[in-house]
Amino acid sequence: MAENILENSLLIERRIEVESAIESVVESSLSGTYAPAMELAREILLAGGKRIRPVLTLLAYELAGGDVRDEVLDFAVATELIHTATLIHDDIYDGAKLRRGVQTLHEKHGLDHAIIGGDFLFVMGFGLGGRYEERVVRIMADTCAAIAAGELKQIQHISDLSTTPEDYYEIVRGKTAGPFASACECAAIIAGSSDRDALLLREFGMELGIAFQLVDDILDLTGDERMGKARGTDIHEGKMTLPIIHALTLLHGDSRRILADVLAEFRDDRWDELEALLEQGDSFGYCRILIHNHLERALNHLYEFPQSEVRDVLEAMTRQVMTRNE
Ligand code: IPE
Ligand code: IPE
Ligand code: MG
Ligand code: MG
Repeated sequence: MAENILENSLLIERRIEVESAIESVVESSLSGTYAPAMELAREILLAGGKRIRPVLTLLAYELAGGDVRDEVLDFAVATELIHTATLIHDDIYDGAKLRRGVQTLHEKHGLDHAIIGGDFLFVMGFGLGGRYEERVVRIMADTCAAIAAGELKQIQHISDLSTTPEDYYEIVRGKTAGPFASACECAAIIAGSSDRDALLLREFGMELGIAFQLVDDILDLTGDERMGKARGTDIHEGKMTLPIIHALTLLHGDSRRILADVLAEFRDDRWDELEALLEQGDSFGYCRILIHNHLERALNHLYEFPQSEVRDVLEAMTRQVMTRNE
């Protein structure tokens, strides 16, 4: 399959559809009672997210046999509004200063405004998604409840050097992979697909989402300004991501002691030391193998569907997760 399928016109069209649907939601609330709240939220909403969840939603809908895209568009926008709401709140817990290349809401306007901006987008998202059948709304609500549980568990494990890979996976399924899974599953339900296809797409989204978060956690240690957020936010905060959990498990003696010391109160002049320790146990290599495995599983779910242009695009997006740098 050609690499440049990511420049494929179908994908470009879907991205444009998503962007203009988001813009029209913003436009329509900039003139009414909600104008001040939307003014605030749009600073992050329109700052340039990758729009992976809504684009996946449109593509999953088509893969599942849906052919009236207008039918799924509100749901697709809902996934992005809710995602952006979680980012605004996540940045508060993580003490992050930069999001999508701009100042985070709490940095710029204070905690109160950021909480309100996030709540506002949550509610707007549910307003759009709430128009669908009960099953879809229930999945959306369960997914958001699981995000909350995942974020809470993550906070409880801050600086906990005994955090296990199982703890990590539970957090990641809740906060990141669940929303990918439910976006794909609900898209299939809205398309009127069989239960089997909806489940396949759910599993596809789950595997893709796990890989996506693993890559994000590697990028926190190795990435650059293309991410639109600061490198090292996780490490400064004491977040137990998989490369760190792996290194803590593998290293012994002095190396393990130095690692614990580096993590205890991380400073930017200790990057070289941290990188050397992570390389010593090949912790990035370990994570990359897991990412590869999750992506392979995601692809195997996709391959249950007959070959088509939309499947090729989904396949290319899946493969791209491995090499993404933003
Ligand atoms: C960031 O998500 C949060 C994670 C789950 C890693 P994205 O990387 O999709 O962020 P945007 O939407 O493109 O800003
Ligand atoms: C993802 O976790 C956040 C949510 C899914 C809400 P991270 O905390 O790793 O995301 P970034 O790195 O801030 O984008
Ligand atoms: Mg964060
Ligand atoms: Mg991160």
